Parts: sequence; C-alpha cells; structure tokens
Amino acid sequence: MKGVVLAGGLGTRLLPLTKVTNKHLLPVYNKPMVFYPVETLVSAGIREILIVTGGGSAGDFLRLLGNGRAFGLKHLNYAYQEGEGGIAEALGLAEHFADRGPIAVILGDNIIEGNINAAVADYQKQKTGARILLKTVDDPQRFGVAELRDGRVVNIEEKPRKPKSNLAVTGIYMYDAQVFQFIKNLKPSERGELEITDVNNMYIRKGQMSYTVLDGWWTDAGTFESLYRANRLIAHKLRVE
Ligand code: DAU
Repeated sequence: MKGVVLAGGLGTRLLPLTKVTNKHLLPVYNKPMVFYPVETLVSAGIREILIVTGGGSAGDFLRLLGNGRAFGLKHLNYAYQEGEGGIAEALGLAEHFADRGPIAVILGDNIIEGNINAAVADYQKQKTGARILLKTVDDPQRFGVAELRDGRVVNIEEKPRKPKSNLAVTGIYMYDAQVFQFIKNLKPSERGELEITDVNNMYIRKGQMSYTVLDGWWTDAGTFESLYRANRLIAHKLRVE
C-alpha cells in the first residue's frame, strides 16, 4: 500500500509562527512536525510516500526531507496544493500517485504514540472501502466526531457543537480508489473547504466504512494548545523509552 502525508494549508491558527514557514516544518520537541507522520507510515511498512504541501515554503520540504534517507527511504514524491481548499482537495492531488491502488493517508500535524500496523493489516484484509482510526478525546467538538450504532459508524459530524460521542476521527484514513471519484463530487463546506468528513460520510452511506480505535495517545498540533501538548507528549515518550 502507498502512503500520503497531507501537509498543505496555511496554518493560520498558529500565526505568527506560520508567517514565514509552513506549520509542518515547526519543531515538535526534537524533530520537525512532518517527520512524525512520515515515520508513522514507514513503521507500518509503507515505502512509497507522497508529501502534499503548499504555500510559500514548499521548497523547504525538499531541503528538509530530500529523498527520505532519514527514514530509510530511497525516494519521496511531492505534490503542490495551490491555496487552501481543504483536506479533501489536497488528497485529490494524490490520484495519479495512487494509480488506482489503496492508500493510507495521514494529516501532517497528526502525531501518535504507537503505530498503525494493526489497522493497516485489517484494511488489507478488507480489500475495498475505507477505514478510519478513532480515538476517545475530552474535547470532541474540535474534531470530526463519529456516531456508532451496533458496532458500526453511522455518521460523522465535523466539529459539532453538541457531539454525539467523544470518539474523534483522527487524521489517519485508508481508502480505495473510489475516494477520488467521491472528491470530484464534493461541494465546498461553510468554511469554503472540501471536507474529508464529507468523503468519509460517502463511504458510510455506501456501507463501506470500517474503523479501528487507536491504541496509545494521539494528538494534532495545529493550535498553540495542541502544539504545546504534542511537544510535551514526545518529550515524555523519549524520557520513558
Ligand atoms: O486532526 C484530525 C482532524 O483534522 C479531524 O478530526 C477533522 O475531521 C478534520 O477535518 C481535520 O480537522 P482540522 O480543522 O483540525 O484540520 P486542519 O485544517 O487543521 O488541517 C489538518 C491538516 O490537513 C493540516 O495539518 C494539513 C492538511 N491540510 C489542510 C488543509 C485545510 C492540507 O493539506 N490542505 C488544506 O487545504
């Protein structure tokens, strides 16, 4: 399976940190943020990886990551997202790379304690459809929130005021080739973006969505609070290892 890291967007919630650089190049303890999602894919055995980035600092990704030697890779692929049209728009740029095969997608600001190996193995058995990774959180209104019924995800609401559960949809997704058709049928949301939650709901409506609850901690790093938390969690992890 191939992997895609989505590292576009303008990171406006982190201004002025993101005024002259891309959010995913900011440090999280001892590494640039984007290293963590790349490592998550590599440690799940994924060797062919596309980095989608954008904005004014896209060239810095090449200088930083090069051909992926720091991760034991021989090659990395890059795509450029013009503007900030949303996560699903960024993923649409991976169609050629995916070449009709299945893909594991991770948001460039998502950092986990453990690994996604079990979820990847289960998805490979599943063959078609999609799989999302869920995690119980204290602040579900910040995320896509999954509603479960009889052990299945029946709906996802993006940043609901009154969440139906405390299960956040993490920024780790696995899709078959249908995803690119779904993306082409999307309409921009109220925030003017093509939403990954709308894509996931399309799979749910077709009865083709499964899920794994992630072990270990998970955090995003797109706000001052969560970036600080990510730094603390990584520092702690390194101390106990
Ligand atoms: O972190 C998980 C959450 O990520 C999910 O629970 C939500 O359902 C999902 O919509 C997303 O929410 P955010 O509002 O936190 O996403 P954000 O705009 O911060 O973007 C997250 C990453 O996606 C960002 O680090 C890079 C990538 N991205 C985002 C946008 C808007 C792109 O590559 N291009 C984009 O245009």
